[in-house]
Amino acid sequence: MTKIWAHRGASGYAPENTMEAFALAVEQRADGVELDVQLTKDQRLVVIHDETVDRVSMQHGYVKDFEWKDLCKIPVNRTIPEYKEVFIPSLEEVYQLLKGSHLTINVELKTSVIWYPKIEEKVLELTKEMGMLERVIFSSFNHASVKKIKEIEPEAKTGILYSDILYQAAEYSQKVEADALHPVFYHRYMEEVWKEYRESGIPLHIWTVNTEDAMKDLIREDAAAIITNYPDKARAVREQIQENR
Ligand code: G3P
Ligand code: CA
Repeated sequence: MTKIWAHRGASGYAPENTMEAFALAVEQRADGVELDVQLTKDQRLVVIHDETVDRVSMQHGYVKDFEWKDLCKIPVNRTIPEYKEVFIPSLEEVYQLLKGSHLTINVELKTSVIWYPKIEEKVLELTKEMGMLERVIFSSFNHASVKKIKEIEPEAKTGILYSDILYQAAEYSQKVEADALHPVFYHRYMEEVWKEYRESGIPLHIWTVNTEDAMKDLIREDAAAIITNYPDKARAVREQIQENR
C-alpha cells in the first residue's frame, strides 16, 4: 500500500513547515510528513524550506544569519495569511509533536545552496537523542550529504532526491548507499525511466504529487510513498483504489 506523506506538512491548507501544517497532517491521517531543515547562526536545526525567510514572511535575511531567539518570533504566514500566529519550528519541536504518533518523518537536508558545516552530525545527534532514528528517512538533493549520513550512522535510512534523470539510477543509488529513490513525479510518464525504477525494486518516494490523476497513477502502481500537499485528497484516492481492487 502506497504511503502518503504530507509535503512540508499539510501545506495545501496551512503555512508550510509550521506546527499547524504538521498537526493538520496528523489530523488528516497522513502516514508521514516531509520537512526541510536549515541551520541558524547559533546552530539550531530549524524547519524552513528556503535559505532565507523572504518568501514565507514579511522579513528578509538568511536563516544562517539569525539567532534562534529572533528567528522563532518571525510570523511565517505570508503564503496563507488567514493564519496569524504561525512560526518557524525547530526540528526538535516537530519531533516532539510527532513522537507520540506513528508517522514517518522525511527530513530533507537543505544542503545544496549552503552546505552547513556538520549539519549531518547535528541532525543525527538530535534524531538519536530523541529516539526517532527508526522513524526518520533522511533525503537531500546533495547526494554527498546523503552519503555522509550513512557513513556516520549506517542504521539511518536515506533517499536521494532529484528531478533531472540520473544515469543508471539504481546502480548510482547503491554507490551512495541510499535506501530509496526520491524522484520528481513526472518521471512516472517517461517510459524507459519508469521501467528502470520498477525493475530495480528500490522503494520509490515520489514528490510532489498534487493532482488526482498523478495520485491515481502512482498508487495503482504501488509506489512506496507519495509526497503531497493534500494528504486528505490522496487518502480518498487510495481508499477508492483499494475498494475497487
Ligand atoms: O522531498 C520532496 C520535495 O520536498 C523536494 O523538493 O523543493 O519541495 O524541497 P522541495
Ligand atoms: Ca522538501
